[in-house]
Amino acid sequence: MKQVKIKDKIVPAVIQGCMRIGEMSVREVQELIDKQLELGIHFWDHADIYGGGNCERIFGDALKDMPGMREKLIIQSKCGIRPGEYTEYDFSKEHIVKSVEGSLKRLHTDHLDYLLLHRPDLLMEPEEVAEAFDWLQKQGKVLYFGVSNHTPGQIELLKTCVKQPIEINQLQFSLAHTLLLDAPAYLNTTDSHGINRDAGVLDYCRCNKITIQCYSPFQYGVFEGTFLGNPHYGQLNEVLKRLAEKYDTTVNGIATAWILRHPADMQVVVGTTNIKRTPGIAEGADIRLTREEWYELYGAAGNKLP
Ligand SMILES: NC(=O)c1ccc[n+]([C@@H]2O[C@H](COP(=O)([O-])OP(=O)(O)OC[C@H]3O[C@@H](n4cnc5c(N)ncnc54)[C@H](OP(=O)(O)O)[C@@H]3O)[C@@H](O)[C@H]2O)c1
Repeated sequence: MKQVKIKDKIVPAVIQGCMRIGEMSVREVQELIDKQLELGIHFWDHADIYGGGNCERIFGDALKDMPGMREKLIIQSKCGIRPGEYTEYDFSKEHIVKSVEGSLKRLHTDHLDYLLLHRPDLLMEPEEVAEAFDWLQKQGKVLYFGVSNHTPGQIELLKTCVKQPIEINQLQFSLAHTLLLDAPAYLNTTDSHGINRDAGVLDYCRCNKITIQCYSPFQYGVFEGTFLGNPHYGQLNEVLKRLAEKYDTTVNGIATAWILRHPADMQVVVGTTNIKRTPGIAEGADIRLTREEWYELYGAAGNKLP
């Protein structure tokens, strides 16, 4: 398994996401933990809101009966979203601390390795976030901190008060969701791809040594579905299949290799829990596509460069 760095810490390039484990049994989650560990995937991504807390609860129940397993895993969770009829984001100290305490209880652990702020609170007060992070770190409840879906400006705002380094920015990125690349490629053109939707976040993260964790690596849109095997992405699937044969792996493996070929040293957060798919994903992490293959895939996904 390819390894990357988050600051000075060596971590696997593939993370297992837990947004879709809510319907699994404790036994099934235990099997998944064992299988992923064999493949070198020991980094797990949660959020307080996944399955309304149920995903963390099932994972915690699985962990409780696996003596010594907690120490082998890196566990990350997120906070800051309050779902409801009118969804709110909340970065108040009270909400952040309460959310982490809930996650720790459900996960049956005394600490999170990483805590991410899930989506930027429109009413963000960086002083409140700083107080929450200080308290959580002092209590040993969270070791390291990061964000998700944050712009460079929002990270800079946090940095005016937060002492701990912002080590991670979790962002959506896949062959069929390439906004991080598209706008900079079309700079100063009248093509609509040039509309700045990403605020230069990819280059900002690289310059500031913030690790990008790419979520939904096999999806297009927000929750539309997968592009793998999807007839709307016919040309892309043809190229994926051809390269999967060449490298003796799966289409998931090549889609993973495409993300990890980018020199930003990113991580991929996968959501499939199908243990027939995960070995291919692990293989893909170790495949280095050629420059020509990388660009061919980008083009086959419907992108035409100026
Ligand atoms: N920070 C954020 O705002 C944010 C947002 C969304 C997600 N996340 C994190 O990212 C993780 C991954 O997100 P995701 O679940 O959207 O990622 P994903 O791995 O891109 O999508 C998983 C889905 O794609 C399907 N799939 C994968 N390969 C397939 C194939 N070859 N053929 C058909 N279907 C295929 C899976 O079905 P099978 O189960 O049948 O394989 C599953 O339904 C989440 O668990 C969560 O931890 C973070």
